[in-house]
Amino acid sequence: MTERLLVFDTTLRDGEQSPGASMTREEKVRIAKALERLRVDVIEAGFPTASVGDFESVQAVAQAIRESTVCGLARALVSDIDRAGEALRGAHTQTRIHTFIATSPIHMERKLRMTQEQVLDQAVIAVRRARQHTDDVEFSPEDAGRSEFDFLCRILEAVIAAGARTVNIPDTVGYNLPNQFGNLIYRLRERVPNADKAVFSVHCHNDLGLAVANSLAAIQNGARQVECTINGLGERAGNAALEEIVMAVRTRRDLFTCDTRLDTSQIVSCSRLVSTITGFPVQPNKAIVGANAFAHEAGIHQDGVLKSRETYEIMRAEDVGWKANRMVLGKHSGRNAFRARMDELGIVFGSEEELSRVFGLFKDLADKKHEIFDEDLQSLVTVAGLEKKNESIHLLGVHVCSETGTIPHALVRISIEGKEHQSEAVGSGPVDAVFKAIEGAVETQSDLLLYSVNAITGGTDAQGEVTVRLEKGGRIVNGQGADTDIIVASAKAYINAINKLLMPPQRSHPQNGDI
Ligand code: KIV
Ligand code: ZN
Repeated sequence: MTERLLVFDTTLRDGEQSPGASMTREEKVRIAKALERLRVDVIEAGFPTASVGDFESVQAVAQAIRESTVCGLARALVSDIDRAGEALRGAHTQTRIHTFIATSPIHMERKLRMTQEQVLDQAVIAVRRARQHTDDVEFSPEDAGRSEFDFLCRILEAVIAAGARTVNIPDTVGYNLPNQFGNLIYRLRERVPNADKAVFSVHCHNDLGLAVANSLAAIQNGARQVECTINGLGERAGNAALEEIVMAVRTRRDLFTCDTRLDTSQIVSCSRLVSTITGFPVQPNKAIVGANAFAHEAGIHQDGVLKSRETYEIMRAEDVGWKANRMVLGKHSGRNAFRARMDELGIVFGSEEELSRVFGLFKDLADKKHEIFDEDLQSLVTVAGLEKKNESIHLLGVHVCSETGTIPHALVRISIEGKEHQSEAVGSGPVDAVFKAIEGAVETQSDLLLYSVNAITGGTDAQGEVTVRLEKGGRIVNGQGADTDIIVASAKAYINAINKLLMPPQRSHPQNGDI
């Protein structure tokens, strides 16, 4: 009989720890709803102690979700756990508290400055405290991948006895190799006396490019929960990619005795949504969700696929949500058709006024672009959110002059706290000139780390979606902009990033500090 493999998505928590990937509360709720449609079992919505913004996001997600369990992260500290409990109170769904403390010698000695006994006691106190808020408690020995095996067994036995229903084994720094990590899970399940009282979970980072391979090895050795993120988003090289694990298990049923309950046809739209909101583009050759993942260029492959798709395809594109016909709306579509399509995409408007604002943007876009696709609609909602609040700088107009043999020149008009400014500059190309003109007016003295353009859909009238990553004083932000004119999209993205730099930082990372 096929056993159930639980999917624990941490895009909103570990994924958000990618530099510049911070999301607003509304954006987190939109992603959480998409994850619920995907039917993930647990959504880790944030780290309530990290900031007021994180607390409010966990609260908002817990109230918006009905089917998936919503989880809040907490260090093994009573104050953190109570804060997580508070954020989850009043949830409309099941809740979980995930508490952790480091167990590797290097973390205990150099970061925590605690002995094994102190760490073990602290873990037990934390789990008992979390059980006062919810029956569903998960414990993680951070850096388990580099922890001493005997100590790991002792702490897991103690936290299970204290009431942890899930024990999660993180390879925090992505150090393990697949056979080693699979073997670790096997031996832990053999050795921990009360192992049968808890679900064994794994949480792999991708520093050596092995997060998915390590997770799959762990599943083959008895792990029944897997922690992962959409598109593999996450700190440094990221976390294990949800879509790759889920499709590997589903495609190779011959090698796995378990499967998830996911509706895999939601994978591509979820991937697009996370990419649009965070500004982290998906590489074209990325497995499952990359634009080329199901594209057969070589004639010999095309011929084979036309004769029998199994010759070169191990999965069906439509099973992960690539649809053959994705044209949805056009210039003549009315408000009702627009609302209905947005409903189907799971986009819910807070008010009629909000719907009207996005419908207005849709009409503007439809004047410039013949066919409007789902991706255009997702991007409209993101842009409407971006332009909505707290932004003190707005783009009023751009004029660029760029001709072969001349130096590109840009004139931009922007409003800064309601006052109009004009600024001109030349650059090595039109985008460079526009960025220099904006910087001339705003003087952020930030460094440009990344500039990328992605066509949201096909065709020369497609909207260009631009991501700009800026750094100032160690703080990194991502800005996005979309328009059928990529110079305008670039200016919007640059201004969006500057607006983020001007806002106070949203969150700190207490898990990296002392407890
Ligand atoms: O990577 C890690 O160890 C974590 C823990 C908080 C589970 O993210
Ligand atoms: Zn992690």
